[in-house]
Amino acid sequence: MNSELPEGFSAESIPVHVAIIMDGNGRWAKKRLMNRVKGHEKGSETVRNVVRTSREMGISYLSLYAFSTENWDRPKSEVATLMSLLRRFLASEREEMLENNIRLNAIGELDRLPDKVRSDLENIMVETAGNTGMVLTLCLSYGARDELTAAMRAVAIKVGQGLLNPESLSQEDLAGHLYTAGMPDPDLLIRTSGEMRLSNFMLWQLAYTEFVFSPTLWPDFSEQEYLEILKGYQERDRRFGKVKDA
Ligand code: IPE
Ligand code: IPE
Ligand code: MG
Repeated sequence: MNSELPEGFSAESIPVHVAIIMDGNGRWAKKRLMNRVKGHEKGSETVRNVVRTSREMGISYLSLYAFSTENWDRPKSEVATLMSLLRRFLASEREEMLENNIRLNAIGELDRLPDKVRSDLENIMVETAGNTGMVLTLCLSYGARDELTAAMRAVAIKVGQGLLNPESLSQEDLAGHLYTAGMPDPDLLIRTSGEMRLSNFMLWQLAYTEFVFSPTLWPDFSEQEYLEILKGYQERDRRFGKVKDA
């Protein structure tokens, strides 16, 4: 896979984990005097392309913020559209995931999702469980504060049961109770649409992530721009608080 990287890329400096806040579908549609639904439809095509490019570039983990806990407060009709688009996406990507060794994962308050969405997700997650090429994590009904609260609750319960010692509680203990347990932290976060905020996304995991904010609306986000961002990432100097060459 890596042997086919485009010129100018080296496998060692490809991020292991890319996370994306896919934003701007509504504004894309509004600009064209179309219903927001059209923006979400076009946006799901972008998702398809980004998944493909990520796999081709040898990225091991791709995490996509597709629906936040706060997004439940959108009009019912928009939420319903997003849920049916998600089912359509899963149906159309299933084959691609099976063929390309992609493992599907989903994180968030999944029990709030409609039954049909949940069962589609579960079926594909089971079918792709043995795949080793790339982990595609859909963040659905996801909110970092809820995630952290749930982790702290789980830790507190274990402390109460005597299974964890509060005195020696470590970062690893807490990280191990997050939805992302077992996954490396994102190396690169991309947010489209020009908004420069996290909107409750991976507050713990992004502590040392490189951020890229693009003004492009998600439906217009192209493979070319994605590759440019990946190229730019290669130039970043990640010091993690240390002094270089010390
Ligand atoms: C991102 O696009 C998709 C979701 C949040 C589900 P938006 O729907 O937020 O589009 P804008 O931000 O209103 O343009
Ligand atoms: C963040 O986008 C959530 C997703 C992309 C799924 P929003 O559009 O919901 O965020 P805000 O409201 O602009 O902060
Ligand atoms: Mg938005």
